[in-house]
Amino acid sequence: MALVDPRSARPTRAVLLGAAAAGLAAGGVALWRRARRGPPLPRERSLDSTAALLREGYLFIGRRCRTLGSDVFRTRLMGRPAICAQGEAAARMFYEPGLFTRRGALPPTALLSLQDLGSVNQLDGAAHRWRKALFLDLVGSDRVAALGAAFDAEWRVAAEAWARAHRIVLFDEVREVITRAVCAWAGAPLAPGEARRRAREFGAMIDGAGAVGPRNWRGLLLRARTERWARRLIADARSGRRRAPPGSPLEAVAFHRDLDGRRLPVAIAAVELLNLLRPTVAVDRYIAFAALALHRHPGWRERLARDGAARTAFAQEVRRLYPFFPAVGGRALQPFAWRGRRFRRGTWVILDLFGTNRDPKSWREAEAFRPERFLTDEPNAHNFIPQGGGDPATGHRCPGEPITLELMDRALAWLAGEMRYEVPAQDLSVRLDRMPAIPASRMVLSGVRPAGAPARAAPA
Ligand code: HEM
Repeated sequence: MALVDPRSARPTRAVLLGAAAAGLAAGGVALWRRARRGPPLPRERSLDSTAALLREGYLFIGRRCRTLGSDVFRTRLMGRPAICAQGEAAARMFYEPGLFTRRGALPPTALLSLQDLGSVNQLDGAAHRWRKALFLDLVGSDRVAALGAAFDAEWRVAAEAWARAHRIVLFDEVREVITRAVCAWAGAPLAPGEARRRAREFGAMIDGAGAVGPRNWRGLLLRARTERWARRLIADARSGRRRAPPGSPLEAVAFHRDLDGRRLPVAIAAVELLNLLRPTVAVDRYIAFAALALHRHPGWRERLARDGAARTAFAQEVRRLYPFFPAVGGRALQPFAWRGRRFRRGTWVILDLFGTNRDPKSWREAEAFRPERFLTDEPNAHNFIPQGGGDPATGHRCPGEPITLELMDRALAWLAGEMRYEVPAQDLSVRLDRMPAIPASRMVLSGVRPAGAPARAAPA
């Protein structure tokens, strides 16, 4: 159909009218869409921000929120439209029960290194709540205290060896201490010499989760070995070849029945066993950060040695301020409205955990390390979210917080009370473009000795 008179090459009256009508219609549709969806969100002007995210790490979302003057903005990551948000209000929206799934919301590099396909993290609704109850049952106070006691026993043995060494790398040592403790506690005892290998595998999975390239590939490679070990444990427990200790977490996972009344396939049960063991080992990072915080704030040492409430407050402030999980992602299971704006089903939202924990709207002197704030003010389930927010029973918040706090408490009691050591010159910088972050030197301690023992002379 010719819309332009070819002889004059000038638009005819009909064309002009048609164009005007089309323009009006398009404008009308845009207005109608805008009215329906609500005001547009600030948008980052970039074709894709994945490279910037990898370059800027923990600071990526916060910087853009500041530049755009908004706690939520639109961008593109890995070629997909994404909405990034930070702060308590965003966390309330994100942790609205049943609103977001974790399926399709994590980069595959992180998903396969951490939670994995078929795990509780990938479930929704009743199936999720049912499987989650298994985890919440495993972190009841008696069980957590038993894990704490196992951790103490392993730390004691290790501390004797540390006292014979000139220096130790605390982060690496604690990883092995926790590996021994959590495997014994779970009913998955390790053969002599096996702890170091398993600790290395768990460490590689955690370290590789936030990386792209060799660090991630190494984690995945070592994970394959750990999965074979975990599958054997589950299969042996079921067949009776090597019975799981009665009442142990291994027994609970091996014989857990899902909502359909069936036992988990061996591969999925193994994944869930690893989802209990691996993140417990990951507490080594928080313990290294706690040692760093203690080094930077030695005035707390004496109080931490004798006061459990102070230790909890100190551990909470470490979790608030030191970088671990940068963010979590979710895809909307249904259309929803937030702040007068409508979002489609499938919308990919990334919530900034690191930035929310340091949000000046929620925290006075947000960047300052002040454990005493936790002695006077209770955080809520949406402004303090180092391990996710909301209710762990109905949402995806981490079930492992009691374990994390227990192990941090016991480690602080050792570091501040029962042990003495020096912190030699080293690179203690924490790079925020490395995910997950860790002090560059991984916390080297020298002259480790029991409290009360005289300082040892440095070797010539
Ligand atoms: C080392 C410190 C830890 C950190 C920083 C951490 C962080 C997190 C985060 C950010 C999530 C995702 C929350 C979400 O998707 O909304 C999560 C989920 C999870 N964590 Fe932890 N976690 C830690 C320790 C633990 C421990 C000790 C356990 C052992 C029980 C554990 C087991 C899990 C499980 C099973 C999930 C999936 C929960 C679900 O999807 O419902 N984590 N964790």
